[in-house]
Amino acid sequence: MQTPHIPVLLNEVLESFKDVGEGYFVDCTLGYAGHSSEILAKYDQLKHIGIDRDDEALAFSKKRLEPYKERSTLYKGTFATVFPALEEAPIVAVLADFGVSSLQLDKEERGFSFTSETLDMRMDANAALSAYEVVNEYPQERLEYIFDTYGEVRSYRKLAAAVVEARAQGPIRSANQLSEIAKSVIPPGGKIHPATLMFQAIRIEVNNELGEIEGLLDALEKKHVKGEVVSLISFHSLEDRLVKNRFKKWAQACICDPHAMRCTCGKNHALGKAFSSKPVTATKEELKLNPRSRSAKLRSFRFTKDV
Ligand SMILES: C[S@@+](CC[C@H](N)C(=O)[O-])C[C@H]1O[C@@H](n2cnc3c(N)ncnc32)[C@H](O)[C@@H]1O
Repeated sequence: MQTPHIPVLLNEVLESFKDVGEGYFVDCTLGYAGHSSEILAKYDQLKHIGIDRDDEALAFSKKRLEPYKERSTLYKGTFATVFPALEEAPIVAVLADFGVSSLQLDKEERGFSFTSETLDMRMDANAALSAYEVVNEYPQERLEYIFDTYGEVRSYRKLAAAVVEARAQGPIRSANQLSEIAKSVIPPGGKIHPATLMFQAIRIEVNNELGEIEGLLDALEKKHVKGEVVSLISFHSLEDRLVKNRFKKWAQACICDPHAMRCTCGKNHALGKAFSSKPVTATKEELKLNPRSRSAKLRSFRFTKDV
């Protein structure tokens, strides 16, 4: 089957689940089932749950996972809402490969690329908020906040002002038009396209990407079993920071106030342990085959206690 997306850090993800026992494996970002199909093939003690908010991805994966249909259930929705509601147990392995898929990025009509004639960027084509509303209806201060916080755009104020000035002439209707505005503020010639960070920021806002990650981490904190392994792949520092900090918190034995004179909590509050303090990144071989793996960072955590 021709696949529109190459799974990143595949061997490393497979390796991370090598010691999990019998139970459910939840792929929170099923996409084109690149990771899921390999995990199902390798670990036949695992039953599979795949979650995605994108109908196209689900339809593709349903076909791809046909050989495993007895062991696989797919759910449509966002992982921050679907995961906490899962009744299947025990869940022994959880994967999330955050962000958009190559197909979402490459399909012009989805509005993620700089040359798109639409202004959309929704992972779920039925979601209420699209890039069109963000760009044309958000107040200038909110655009500044988004460009600064989610895009870390240096000239975020100028960029927000340029968007507001442009939309005063009539609605901004395409990603193409938006990227021209970015070019007028940020001169081309840098390492990345002038619109890259602005597009990242809008995409994060449209899809509530950071809120979703926090929601999943909250759900894992409240619901896990001993031996469960969680492997999370992020693609930029905002995502990775959320994961890194939460894993650190989960590994902390002492939960006393850092200013307390001495420990009174019993120092037995660690929920488990991260596989390592540094994230796993792509090998040179993988980088050659799949440039998208360049910014991928995998962090894994093993829970050593039931909730
Ligand atoms: C990077 S791709 C995953 C690719 C997949 N690992 C594979 O190998 O085919 C990310 C997928 O997760 C989905 N996604 C991203 N955020 C999501 C969320 N909060 N809830 C549900 N699905 C999400 C996207 O629609 C996309 O299909």
